Amino acid sequence: MRNSVLARKLTHERAAPTLGAVLAVVPQPVTVRVPAKVNLHLAVGDLRLDGYHELVSVFQALSVTDEVTVAATDAPGVQVYGEGAGTVPTDRRNLAWRAVLALAEHAGRRPAVRVVLRKGIPVAGGMAGGSADAAGTLVALAGLWRLDISREELAGLAAGLGSDVPFALHGGTALGTGRGESLVPVLTRHTFHWVVALDHRGLSTPDVYRELDRLRAHGSPPQRLGDVEPLLEALASGNPRQLALLLGNDLQAASVSLRPALRRTLRAGVDAGALAGMVSGSGPTCAFLCVDGDAAVRVAAELAGVGVCRTVRVASGPVPGARVVEDPRPVPPPEPLAHA
Ligand code: C5P
Repeated sequence: MRNSVLARKLTHERAAPTLGAVLAVVPQPVTVRVPAKVNLHLAVGDLRLDGYHELVSVFQALSVTDEVTVAATDAPGVQVYGEGAGTVPTDRRNLAWRAVLALAEHAGRRPAVRVVLRKGIPVAGGMAGGSADAAGTLVALAGLWRLDISREELAGLAAGLGSDVPFALHGGTALGTGRGESLVPVLTRHTFHWVVALDHRGLSTPDVYRELDRLRAHGSPPQRLGDVEPLLEALASGNPRQLALLLGNDLQAASVSLRPALRRTLRAGVDAGALAGMVSGSGPTCAFLCVDGDAAVRVAAELAGVGVCRTVRVASGPVPGARVVEDPRPVPPPEPLAHA
């Protein structure tokens, strides 16, 4: 009799574990902050046989960031909040979800996770927001699953997800070659001050590269950027006036060809007092280098008043790549998920 009471008691304890035991097996969500990028120099070579272009790119990570939270769940999927959230796919096209699948396969884990994206980086804006989300997801999941994985292994997975994903992991300022995924750090001991102007609609990166190929094949091809060395020297000097003279982007002619109104935005930023303005990556976001933080605030206010763009932000760079946030905001409750 006593034994059967004991047996019942043990069975009951197994069926209803204590709160402490539950907390021990369900890991806490992990949140990562990850930056947007601007290309200070983007020299685009010819189309390769694999459909990519050979690049020489100097990336700088800016203080315009997304937050990526991953949480263990039985109902996997992606939730997106913030500006432009409605236009971000939450299915397999979402690069953050593809990052989950890539790391799950690499680690031999089930992709039983919910990814919550809080967008601060403009969607389809040429600032690598999707790539940032993928990089953030890799770092967050590696933390959630407590994987023993090196930064180099993560960078390898990142390169498989997209050309700009390794830089979002890396952050700072870096020289990228190949598709842009092969990185070496560039030393800058200085902070540069930027204004970014967001357009009303995004531009598709493949469309912009295709337009550049078309412009190069027909009529008068746009002039190609020169050597990157002078720009690297200007970065080392920390002098924004010197850097402003050397900023350049071979994709700019193509994005302006697809979106002629960008010419007006670029002119308006310089008229407002920026040292220089250029299209960021494949656009349509424009980035304006300013002499200091106060000038950036003045340029942003004036540019916002002209009404040539949807919204204007002040930013600085370089900032670090994808990093775990120690005091994250609460995770929003799960939503009914379309799939994943
Ligand atoms: O690598 P990712 O998926 O970010 O690239 C998106 C598209 O941008 C590619 O499919 C290609 O059309 C274009 N691209 C390119 N050359 C690069 C990087 C991207 O043509 N170096």
